[in-house]
This record gives sequence, C-alpha cells and structure tokens, in this order.
Amino acid sequence: MEIDIKSLEPSQIYKLMISVIVPRPIAWISTVSKEGIYNLAPFSYFAGVSSEPPLIAVSIGRKETKAKKDTWKNIEETGEFVINMVTKEVVEKMNITALPFDEEIDEFKEANLTPVPSSVVKAPRVKESPVNIECRKFEIIEIGKMGLILGEVLKIHVKDDILNEKGYVDTEKLEIIGRLGGANYCLVTKNNTFTLKRPDKR
Ligand SMILES: Cc1cc2nc3c(=O)[nH]c(=O)nc-3n(C[C@H](O)[C@H](O)[C@H](O)COP(=O)(O)O)c2cc1C
Repeated sequence: MEIDIKSLEPSQIYKLMISVIVPRPIAWISTVSKEGIYNLAPFSYFAGVSSEPPLIAVSIGRKETKAKKDTWKNIEETGEFVINMVTKEVVEKMNITALPFDEEIDEFKEANLTPVPSSVVKAPRVKESPVNIECRKFEIIEIGKMGLILGEVLKIHVKDDILNEKGYVDTEKLEIIGRLGGANYCLVTKNNTFTLKRPDKR
C-alpha cells in the first residue's frame, strides 16, 4: 500500500506520522512564564540533533484559539527551559500535564509534582524525573503552524549511580517511556533491549 500524503487531511497525516515514526522520546518541558508561573507539558516531536554544539529539537503547535502553546510562548519570551525525561512511575502525571490548562495554571500543582531549582536556568526541574536537561533557546523556526525549537543543552542532571564507567547512562535502569501512535506507549527495560556491535570493516 502506498499513501500519497498530498491526498490526506492534516489529521490523517498526523495519525500516520506519529504511528510510523516510533518510538519517540518524550520531552516533558518545564518553563516559567515572564509573570513567574510554572508550566509543564509533554512533547514527542522531539529529538537530539547535534552534539557539537549540543542541540535538541522539539516541535510545538498551537492551541484551538490559534495562540502559541504556553511552552512555546514561555521559551520565546524567557529563552529558557528544562527537558525532564518521563518514566513509568510518572506517566499518569505526565498525562495530566498534557491537558489544555489556561496559562495561569501551574501544572506542577495540578499533577502533584515537585519543582526544584535548576542550576543555570530559571525554569524549575521535575524532582520526580531521573534526568533533567537544562536548555537555552538557540533558535525558533516557524514552519507552517508549528514552532520548531532548537535548544542548546547547558546542564544534564542524572540520578546518582546510573552513569557507567564508559560514560553512558544505564538506560534500562531508568525505565523511560517512549511514545507510539495514539494513546500507546512503550517502555525501555532490560528484557526488551539488546546489544549490537558494529561489524569489523570489510
Ligand atoms: C505524550 C504526548 C506527546 C505530545 N507531543 C506533542 C508535540 O510533540 N507537539 C505538540 O504541540 N503537542 C504535543 N502534545 C500535546 C501537548 O502536551 C498539549 O497540547 C499541552 O496542553 C501543551 O501545553 P502548554 O500549552 O502548557 O505548552 C503531546 C501530548 C502527549 C500526551
């Protein structure tokens, strides 16, 4: 079956894109508005795109009113944000923070999560998350209805004892969630990961 994208409605394209490009990590982004209100929401159009310089990309849409989502607005206005990785333990809370709350509402309070200070940015980190990545706005590129946000990684906080001697974080110990299509998710655990060494040069 071959699907011609040009023949589809945006909602059909969205469903196809998010169910074929899988699994996607979730950037659970905390920001603070210029009025000082905390904001937290998940985004899975998310990827690490460069290590030199260290950059991430996340694509954020608009509300039903066509206004920029609060996360996009806060990053644009303050230039700072934190990406918190989502684990099995906090997945229900992550889902609460995806609700379209008004910008005056603090999602940390709505989801009963604990904001803790970051080192170099004003946006708080999520205490319940084992990995927090402090970022500064690098560039925002408006593409159609979306804001493609490039963020420079400034600090990475990882919970103690999961960085191994080779410099990798022991991913299986974190039980990080990935997003699939619709309301489906996957879980990274020891039982469903494997090692594949690169073959020797032929
Ligand atoms: C797992 C998950 C992934 C999501 N990914 C995105 C995304 O990549 N881009 C986007 O605009 N919205 C995404 N959403 C929806 C936003 O989280 C939602 O619109 C939220 O209310 C935005 O909050 P804000 O206005 O406080 O920024 C996702 C929701 C969930 C549950």
